[in-house]
Amino acid sequence: MTRAPQFPPDFLWGVATGAHQTEGGNVASDWWYRDHLPDSPSAERCGDAVDSYHRWPEDLDLAAGAGFTDYRFGIEWSRIEPADGHLSTAAVAHYRRIVEGAWSRGLRPLVTLHHFTLPLWFAAGGGWLRPDATERFLRYVDALAPVLEGVGFVETINEPNIVAMFPKLAAGVAGGLPVPDDAIAEAMIAVHRATVDRLRANHPGLRVGWGISVQDYQAEPGAEAALEAYAEPRDQAFLRASADDDFVGVQTYTGGRLRADGTVVEVPDAERTQTGWEYTPAALGGAVRRVARVVPGVPIIVTENGLATDDDARRIAYTTGALESLRAAMDDGADVRGYFHWSLLDNWEWGHWGPTFGLVAVERTTFERKPKPSLAWLGSLAPSVPSGRGGA
Ligand code: BGC
Repeated sequence: MTRAPQFPPDFLWGVATGAHQTEGGNVASDWWYRDHLPDSPSAERCGDAVDSYHRWPEDLDLAAGAGFTDYRFGIEWSRIEPADGHLSTAAVAHYRRIVEGAWSRGLRPLVTLHHFTLPLWFAAGGGWLRPDATERFLRYVDALAPVLEGVGFVETINEPNIVAMFPKLAAGVAGGLPVPDDAIAEAMIAVHRATVDRLRANHPGLRVGWGISVQDYQAEPGAEAALEAYAEPRDQAFLRASADDDFVGVQTYTGGRLRADGTVVEVPDAERTQTGWEYTPAALGGAVRRVARVVPGVPIIVTENGLATDDDARRIAYTTGALESLRAAMDDGADVRGYFHWSLLDNWEWGHWGPTFGLVAVERTTFERKPKPSLAWLGSLAPSVPSGRGGA
């Protein structure tokens, strides 16, 4: 079997999941509403997703059983607060059970507070551009205090840079990512900063950061300035907003090359994954190196990396290459503290079910979990036995 590089004993070794993509039945969320519009942009609905709202113990068993020591999962705001100001203590208790379930299996939880979905009431009132966005988000964060008690790591917002691109992504993109909407970017940075302050005040010892989508574009000869101009609004502005955080989450899938005129070099015969992205395992190392330059001194956690494929041997080959490039970046000085693979399960990929990112397949009608060989392979590379509760 393919060999992969070694990581330090205290390195986080995890699998990542997202709330809405796995839970199912998030009927009070904006994405549920969007799925059910008569002219919905979703080709397929999320529906019951993979029923992880009920089957989370099985999911944790799979992760821990394979040897992983860390588990990234999300809390769904629309379940905690399905109507403006109505805070569900039952939903809070549900997520606390997951935290305790992780600990009881030797998994350290890394908890995501926001992963693309919003409560419909918040979205309908203007979403991140509402004047009271920070106040409302902090009310939700405060309600999560019992869930977060003793937890080691929190990611406040998943990929704010992609969220700020949503209005433009909806129009379709070719050749690289669109520029994020300035107002949404600014609002999300403000929410993040306020959330970091609030969590630090209320949960001493908790390490707080956010997860940025970082693609690894490299400059063609003479394209260095163009690359800087490309990257600055798309991810670097968000990375810089992490300069005072306890860690920055890096989420990397692909990369490419940029010309001096700012356009992306198209490679017609490149191998592509099910999402159409170029198969570029070493993008992870390149992304991490750039992040280490942009926010020197901020510890990095790879909070997502993976690929959509129906060929599990290709998943193992890609991940081996990604880990080799990550190890090389660390050997050259990047301060990386952990790696979370996206994703534990095949899940709902924001509008369709086609792309399969999982280490575990899920039978769509029975929800039966079927581990792929990559699950045991990646789990067996775990560098350490967890030190236990709290994810210290
Ligand atoms: C998101 C995940 C998504 C993955 C693959 C990331 O942008 O955080 O929700 O499934 O990429 O597209």
